[in-house]
Amino acid sequence: MDASVVYDNLNQANTQESKQASPPAPPPDCCWYPRRHRLALILGCFWLILLVLIVIRLGVLVQKSPIGKVIQENKTKTTVGKCNVNVSESSTKATESSVQLTCSNDWRPHREKCIQFSQENGVWKEGLSNCTRKGATLLLIQDQEELIFVKGLIKERGHLFWIGLNYSLPNKTWRWINGSTLSSDVLNITGDAKLNSCVAISKDKVVSESCASDNMWICQNEPKRL
Ligand SMILES: *[C@@H]1O[C@H](CO)[C@@H](O)[C@H](O)[C@H]1NC(C)=O
Ligand SMILES: *[C@@H]1O[C@H](CO)[C@@H](O)[C@H](O)[C@H]1NC(C)=O
Ligand SMILES: *[C@@H]1O[C@H](CO)[C@@H](O)[C@H](O)[C@H]1NC(C)=O
Ligand SMILES: *[C@@H]1O[C@H](CO)[C@@H](O)[C@H](O)[C@H]1NC(C)=O
Ligand SMILES: *[C@@H]1O[C@H](CO)[C@@H](O)[C@H](O)[C@H]1NC(C)=O
Ligand SMILES: *[C@@H]1O[C@H](CO)[C@@H](O)[C@H](O)[C@H]1NC(C)=O
Ligand SMILES: *[C@@H]1O[C@H](CO)[C@@H](O)[C@H](O)[C@H]1NC(C)=O
Repeated sequence: MDASVVYDNLNQANTQESKQASPPAPPPDCCWYPRRHRLALILGCFWLILLVLIVIRLGVLVQKSPIGKVIQENKTKTTVGKCNVNVSESSTKATESSVQLTCSNDWRPHREKCIQFSQENGVWKEGLSNCTRKGATLLLIQDQEELIFVKGLIKERGHLFWIGLNYSLPNKTWRWINGSTLSSDVLNITGDAKLNSCVAISKDKVVSESCASDNMWICQNEPKRL
């Protein structure tokens, strides 16, 4: 019993001694490989983390650059699929112009409004109420540019379209339906300025007409926000 214990201890001492005595010799297989693995693992992890950090940093940089925008656009197009192509396209367009304006079908966008020409005729008040029923008003013309634009949309010569301007008491002046009086900087009206006169426009002129005559009309609407 005692002898074997001593022998064992001696043996251990021997092996320890031999280990310490020969440091340049390669360690036994059982320990050497795992250590190399561990080292490789740590190094690998380090590089992986570094790589991930670099990729994230690059991603942020690319997103901020204009090229990133295009790449992102392509990414959304391809990943989102056919059905939503229009949605992503219109939203990128919108962010570029920073104003998100959409007009319903048959309504023409112009600056910050949507414009619609009627298909039928009616007296001025019919045009007024028809626009109101659509959640719109008769056209208000802000400046000469807008007048030129709207005139340009009229195809047929001779067709007259009511706008939201009439001759009204109490001040006996031309007044927009929003309550403002007409400025001669915007437009000049051909014809009499008298009671029961309403304003219509054609391809080439702005005229005073009896409010009881039948004309087409133009409505304007707020654009919808996407
Ligand atoms: C985006 O896609 C278009 C074609 O859909 C391609 O012409 C263009 O080069 C692409 N841009 C980038 C930055 O990948
Ligand atoms: C996308 O818009 C175009 C017209 O700009 C239209 O022809 C097409 O049908 C639309 N696609 C979808 C999926 O709505
Ligand atoms: C008014 O507008 C509607 C469409 O919203 C249309 O159906 C109707 O015929 C129009 N005309 C008149 C005279 O109200
Ligand atoms: C009413 O409309 C006219 C014509 O577009 C415009 O010049 C004026 O500023 C408007 N007034 C108000 C109070 O919105
Ligand atoms: C009518 O004109 C007078 C001055 O001529 C002005 O003080 C008044 O505000 C005008 N009324 C309207 C409704 O524009
Ligand atoms: C002129 O327009 C006003 C609304 O701005 C309306 O109250 C008035 O009845 C109109 N006049 C005529 C003759 O239609
Ligand atoms: C309307 O007529 C006045 C005076 O004749 C003129 O000063 C003004 O420039 C004219 N406005 C337009 C829009 O042509």
